[in-house]
Amino acid sequence: MTQTKELFAAAYNIRRHAYAPYSNFAVGAAVLGNNGKIYTGTNVENISYPCGTCAEQAAIAEMIGNGCREIAEILIIADTAEPITPCGACLQRIKEFAGTQTIVHLANLNGIIKSLNFNDFLPLAFNNREVQK
Ligand code: THU
Repeated sequence: MTQTKELFAAAYNIRRHAYAPYSNFAVGAAVLGNNGKIYTGTNVENISYPCGTCAEQAAIAEMIGNGCREIAEILIIADTAEPITPCGACLQRIKEFAGTQTIVHLANLNGIIKSLNFNDFLPLAFNNREVQK
């Protein structure tokens, strides 16, 4: 399997474990770290709706927990005709660990529909390092 096919399979498979009883909208995410490893996540909803978490958030947390700090590629999958894009909060989460070449793959159950550079999504993301002063 090529790495992109593995990334698709990983996101496809974890999506089946989504906990989304409130929206009935299952999402899967798979990150290819710059170390060549794949990290996955799915959405986990909560009866207190704002406590729910996104698939991308879970995949990024797994990447960080395993000692990787850069996203080479991220793939998001849902069962939709038009592929979904990451929500605004997840774009900022991806931004934190994106490089200039980070690719975002948008997929539905049939496969990858579009692959774009991360900067196409959030070119003016908040990134002001003065907050660290
Ligand atoms: N969701 C994600 O997990 N990722 C996205 O990029 C968009 C939305 C989840 C959140 C919620 O559980 C469900 O999809 C419906 O919004």
